[in-house]
Amino acid sequence: MKDIVVLIASIASIALCTCTAVSLVPDDNSHYVEGESRYIWMLDGEGVSHLVDLEEPVDETLLNVRNEGSNQYWLYTRQNPNTAETLVYGDIDSISNSNYNSSRPIAVIVHGWQSNGNTAVTSLIRNDFLAAEDTNVIIVDWRTVASSNYLTAVITSIEIGQLIGNFLEWIINTTGGDWNNVHLVGISLGAHVVGSAGRQVNGQPARVTGLDPAGPLWIGNPNALNRNDGQYVEAIHTDGGIQGILIPIADADFYPNGGRHPQPGCSTTSCSHGRAPQLFASSIRTDHLQGRLCDNYYQAQSVECSGIVFNMGNSIFSKRGSGIYGLTTGSSWPY
Ligand SMILES: *[C@@H]1O[C@H](CO)[C@@H](O)[C@H](O)[C@H]1NC(C)=O
Ligand SMILES: *[C@@H]1O[C@H](CO)[C@@H](O)[C@H](O)[C@H]1NC(C)=O
Repeated sequence: MKDIVVLIASIASIALCTCTAVSLVPDDNSHYVEGESRYIWMLDGEGVSHLVDLEEPVDETLLNVRNEGSNQYWLYTRQNPNTAETLVYGDIDSISNSNYNSSRPIAVIVHGWQSNGNTAVTSLIRNDFLAAEDTNVIIVDWRTVASSNYLTAVITSIEIGQLIGNFLEWIINTTGGDWNNVHLVGISLGAHVVGSAGRQVNGQPARVTGLDPAGPLWIGNPNALNRNDGQYVEAIHTDGGIQGILIPIADADFYPNGGRHPQPGCSTTSCSHGRAPQLFASSIRTDHLQGRLCDNYYQAQSVECSGIVFNMGNSIFSKRGSGIYGLTTGSSWPY
């Protein structure tokens, strides 16, 4: 009997130690096992990591805010590169009174968990799109839902994407825009949001790009970003197996520096996870990041790919291709 008590006490202390160890080392995901671990440090939009309990109960109150009011659509063009014009679903005046021009392409940028439309990285990508071409850049701000706990944000992200799909369909119906000129870009959890948006409109967008698509709770999830969500779907993996998805999910999957942590110059998985949007932003300006076709994704992880060249990222709306690609990059801009 005494032995059993001791045994129970030691099991309890092992369990306690595991939890304590996880929460005591900020930003250290070395314990994390995809599909098994309950706790993971995850990056927010300001570059700060938060300890996420993947089993934290859903916040029911947020299920009621899933309607058009959950999303803000901020238009930027070369005529208003720094100050947003707000477009409102169903309100034609909000379009006709704006600088929106249906003859020009549409680039949509969607942020991730614990983020908003005003972060440094969304502004960076926006400015790079505008520098490359006179584009209607629409930043979607879905912070009401994105600022909830991770599980709630994952569940509601599907509907957030559907709302975005409806909004874009409405704009294109109303103004005569062209799906061949639409590029949806999603950061981390936002990658699955843009996947859902593309699915809502039957995969019509010319391009859908997922920037280190979020991994936790998305492995084997039928709502995850996939290659049917756009005419050409690209994923850039930089923290695969931890905060991002490692397996190929798109038409073309790029694995910079093996697709995992550590990316060059990164000491935390949050840094590696945040590298994908940085690489993509650079590629819009420079288009110098050359992937090489791999025989398989193990070759990509060991940075051994030597097949044909296919550039990663960029802003070319007619870009099409498929396969698994590896490349190496530098540790700072332009990488
Ligand atoms: C809309 O864009 C097209 C193509 O760039 C341009 O020729 C036209 O002048 C623009 N219209 C307005 C009202 O700015
Ligand atoms: C866009 O137009 C199509 C075809 O007329 C219609 O089926 C669809 O409901 C419209 N979508 C929106 C969001 O207005």
